[in-house]
Amino acid sequence: MRFQPELMTFADGAPVVSAEDWKRRRAEMLDLLSREEYGITPPAPAAVRGTVNAVDEKCCAGHAVIEDLTVSFDTPKGGYSFPCRFFRPASEGKHPLFVFLNFFPEVYNKYFPLEEIIDGGFAVAAIYYKDVTHDDGDFTDGIAGMYPRRGDGTDWGKIGMWAFCASRAADYFLTRPEVDADRLAVIGHSRLGKTALWAGAQDERFRYVISNDSGCSGAAYEREKHGSSETVAKITGKFPFWFCDNFLRYAKDPDERPFDQHFLLSLIAPRRLAVNSASLDEWADPLGEQLSCVACSPAWELLGVRGFTGGETPAKVGELLSGGNVQYYLRDGTHFLSRADWQIYMDMMSE
Ligand code: GCU
Repeated sequence: MRFQPELMTFADGAPVVSAEDWKRRRAEMLDLLSREEYGITPPAPAAVRGTVNAVDEKCCAGHAVIEDLTVSFDTPKGGYSFPCRFFRPASEGKHPLFVFLNFFPEVYNKYFPLEEIIDGGFAVAAIYYKDVTHDDGDFTDGIAGMYPRRGDGTDWGKIGMWAFCASRAADYFLTRPEVDADRLAVIGHSRLGKTALWAGAQDERFRYVISNDSGCSGAAYEREKHGSSETVAKITGKFPFWFCDNFLRYAKDPDERPFDQHFLLSLIAPRRLAVNSASLDEWADPLGEQLSCVACSPAWELLGVRGFTGGETPAKVGELLSGGNVQYYLRDGTHFLSRADWQIYMDMMSE
């Protein structure tokens, strides 16, 4: 009862009591978040192509292969493509894959400890997010310019566009023999953590969904704010273009929203969800992120798997609350995607 709106009640007030009900409830919530928060995602293209432009087989002491690729598909306004880099262990066999929404264009960057990931046996498809469309209010740039806009408040924002391209990357990489389709993850940090959640909510091929310090309009439950964490008013004031215009109406009174972020997280059930926070990242509201894990958990339980086993008592710094398919980790330190975070995710995918 504490977390509002009720997850297990249909919009018409009927209770959600079975896995069959959940299918309909899930569709209802997906539609709600599409129309009221992130905007409506266009249909997936019929075919997605990957073109390998260059290969480097000598990376990470010869333990990794890097491919520079272009991912292409048709849109209502013609052909569109975005660059992507595929990093994979040089060893034979199928590898679990992170579709990584990358903050930076460089191969080696502060959020991407490539060598450790390769040594862990994982592959990465890295998409530099600004290659898809710029992080601003220009809706003619990149993929933003390829789909007509309706102008009715439900047009997709930039988060929706980045998420869409994570799924298009999945379309292609699931055809690659080096990829283990049962261990496909989507991961992002901060604004790209919000994006990873929205991608994972919509696309069930992502068996692992990873939110790193995603905060407001990501993992954080917003009806209970802690400290000076970000609010809907603040985020829509500064980054209105991340969302659909309908979302901006809630800046004045976020409690008017017929949803909260536990709806978003629940769409990932019964798959694996990892929510990491950082102890000094007050802006992203670590406790709010933990509370969402509590609030979304009934979706997993209804589907017959353990959700979040951690409860509401704030995690201790450095504590991993795991044991179900929803896990929460409070890393020591500031807003960052660190080696410690990646290690938590690799451990989850190795269980
Ligand atoms: C800003 C924004 C956050 C976002 C962050 C980031 O701080 O307010 O919502 O998560 O940028 O993406 O780094």
